[in-house]
Amino acid sequence: NWNMKNFIEDQVELIRRQVGEKKVLLALSGGVDSSVVAALLLKAIGSQLVCVHVNHGLMRKGESESVIEVFKNQLNANLVYVDATDRFLGKLEGVADPEQKRKIIGAEFIRVFEEEARKLDGIEFLGQGTIYPDIIESGTKTAKMVKSHHNVGGLPEDLQFELVEPLKQLFKDEVRACGIELGLPGGMVYRQPFPGPGLGVRCLGAITRDRLEAVREADAILREEFERAGLDKKVWQYFTVVPDFKSVGVKNNARCFEYPVIIRAVNTVDAMTATIEQLDWPVLLKITDRIMNEVANVNRVCYDLSPKPTATIEWE
Ligand code: XMP
Repeated sequence: NWNMKNFIEDQVELIRRQVGEKKVLLALSGGVDSSVVAALLLKAIGSQLVCVHVNHGLMRKGESESVIEVFKNQLNANLVYVDATDRFLGKLEGVADPEQKRKIIGAEFIRVFEEEARKLDGIEFLGQGTIYPDIIESGTKTAKMVKSHHNVGGLPEDLQFELVEPLKQLFKDEVRACGIELGLPGGMVYRQPFPGPGLGVRCLGAITRDRLEAVREADAILREEFERAGLDKKVWQYFTVVPDFKSVGVKNNARCFEYPVIIRAVNTVDAMTATIEQLDWPVLLKITDRIMNEVANVNRVCYDLSPKPTATIEWE
């Protein structure tokens, strides 16, 4: 009979047989799939696994820190942490077009990963968090885009590895169950989807450090208040956006000209269509109050009521 314990035991056995004494490289973004595949590979081959976490500077607040805490400190994984913030922000300087931003982030990700791979000796395998919907092409942008980030297809000819994809028969809920069975924290396994380009597509237009900081801080407040209100388990995706224009406000009796923060909270089954979460006023007002008091360079908060279609979930 099929259960998660047996699945894990079988996969551990299969991974060991496939890999032998060799080393496996894994791009560990901290997303559900890459985290679960990392935990499974760790159980199977321990120190033969080398995880690379690339911080592109567009992560949410505390995200890279939690990857390091869980995998390096708690699970004792071989983890190479690369803070490539300056590199990514340098490449993105002055680039306002959303698709261009995505391309730059994707290409730079591959380049950083490639450089790290070249520094390591004796790697013959590449772990990937491919799951069943990725193979059958569910059509959700999330799945495809995230994978294209971590795809071997992007690596040069002379740097090709044999793939290890132990989750490729699982649906998302099974991947989560597998993560829990492997002892990963619930917050990591049940987290909301986060796009590969990260906050880069939520800091609208050409990214600037002040607005990137604002969107990150506002997002952290939103997540904190959603958790407090129990909404983190109810709403499919929720985040903040900071546009590249200012409006007039008043702070300490003086005129100020600063950025707005837009709140987005949506529910969907497959991300192809979405409806907004009808948030209670007290929750919205608390979040608004905190953002206006705690986030620098912000003087206004708006709530996006648009369903998909006509709007998309992200603003870019
Ligand atoms: P849209 O904005 O198209 O978003 O309604 C649908 C879902 O896809 C996610 N998304 C992305 N995920 N790379 C990703 O990995 C991307 O470039 C990207 N763009 C959108 C979005 O967060 C939502 O869950």
